[in-house]
Amino acid sequence: MRKNFYITTPIYYVNDKPHIGHAYTTIAADVLARFHKLQGEEVFLLTGTDEHGLKIQHKAEETGKEPQKFVDEISAEFRKLWDKLDIKYNNFIRTTDEKHKKAVQKVLQTLFNKGAIYKGEYEGLYCVACEQFRHENELVDGRCPDHDIVVEKIKEECYLLKMADIQDELVKRIENRELRIEPERYKREVLSFLKNEKLKDISISRKNVKWGIPLPFDKEHTTYVWVDAFLNYLTGLDWDGDANKLPAQWPASVQLLGKDILRVHATIWPAILIHLGIPLPKMLYVHGHILSGGRKMGKTLGNVISIDEMLSKFGVDGTRYLLMSAGTFGEDVDVTMERMVEKYNADLANGLGNLVSRVVKLMGDPGNWGDRGQIKVIGKLIEEMKMSEALSEIWKVVREDDKFIEENKPWELAKKDEKKFQEVMKKLVSDLRLIADLLVPFMPNTSEKIKKVLETKKTEVLFPRVK
Ligand code: MSP
Repeated sequence: MRKNFYITTPIYYVNDKPHIGHAYTTIAADVLARFHKLQGEEVFLLTGTDEHGLKIQHKAEETGKEPQKFVDEISAEFRKLWDKLDIKYNNFIRTTDEKHKKAVQKVLQTLFNKGAIYKGEYEGLYCVACEQFRHENELVDGRCPDHDIVVEKIKEECYLLKMADIQDELVKRIENRELRIEPERYKREVLSFLKNEKLKDISISRKNVKWGIPLPFDKEHTTYVWVDAFLNYLTGLDWDGDANKLPAQWPASVQLLGKDILRVHATIWPAILIHLGIPLPKMLYVHGHILSGGRKMGKTLGNVISIDEMLSKFGVDGTRYLLMSAGTFGEDVDVTMERMVEKYNADLANGLGNLVSRVVKLMGDPGNWGDRGQIKVIGKLIEEMKMSEALSEIWKVVREDDKFIEENKPWELAKKDEKKFQEVMKKLVSDLRLIADLLVPFMPNTSEKIKKVLETKKTEVLFPRVK
């Protein structure tokens, strides 16, 4: 039996068009999915869009469009972008899909019948950009620390999910690594929070939000958008909401998420699953933010680098490369267009692209290709989510080969020492084949092109220089 590898991205809010923060997570998921496929695993990559809630309702109202029409349009933008970026997802889930909505209602009914959900009242400070209640002590001058907008005081009748009775269980499962949270410091952060604070029951419904899934047992309420959203990780596998009939891919191998949404993923999401008696995902892998000028890049702050501009400047593989090499996955990475242009020219146009064209121009008959020890080293790095480190390793080969060419001057050898010339070329061609293999998950098109030019010996400019 082949090993299952089920990987998810968060589902993206459709209040605005996709940006490079979203692309970052999704490209990482695609790289991991492609890598695990190469390992012979049965891979399923799920992504999609999160389409309900107050934030989206407001945005639709602003544009004067019917909410469904509005979300249809933006959701399509996400899919278009993933196609452009060569993301090979297995399913694209939308929370406005009828099947998803039915399954969510079934789950809520089950939780209600079990007594995990009860009617009450909630009072708190709501940040509509987070779609979450925030603690008073988190706020900066009454504003959300993540979005810099004023929070709203809400007091209303709602249904609540019991958190108290799952808290110890959750701590236990995180500690015994049934639910892994990586990198380690995020696990520590979650545990310290779970051990020091008593979890309040959370509100899972809203009375004043029209744009949501009605509660099956009280049509005056709609489902809280996060509860609706979390269930995508199961409905995206065609699950109908029956806790006794789980999809074969469940539990997820890796759920990728940005650090801003760790808290909810480590509390509400496992709480729902524990109440339902469903196994927890094996791992939550938390990544940092793409910063621009030191602040989280985002629609709400308006400091976004355009993904379309990146694509037109750097191409698909150039964009994938620049985002995956921007810094250690798990930590924040700061990017600017200027630095990306520099890196593109240095690593791709002058680096890999130039190397390929030099070798192909010099190439005689290639021999067979040598040692593949590198594949293991790089494979291990990717398995540990060290994508940028893996790319650095690959680029070490690129740079070594550049140096090797300078030192050996094969164009001179060709005229005076045929044997040495053949040896030098054999190493270079073998290295390029290795590079092409190693690049499959990151830069699938480039990988193909390198293999092709080595065969046809026709040079082509892989990465035109950009200004
Ligand atoms: N809809 C929720 C997630 C529900 S999952 C059950 C949501 N959507 S979001 O569109 O706001 O963000 C989705 C993901 O994009 C999050 O993981 C977030 O961290 C990530 N990013 C958004 N901006 C980002 C950067 N600037 N940098 C890196 N990732 C960022 O939250």
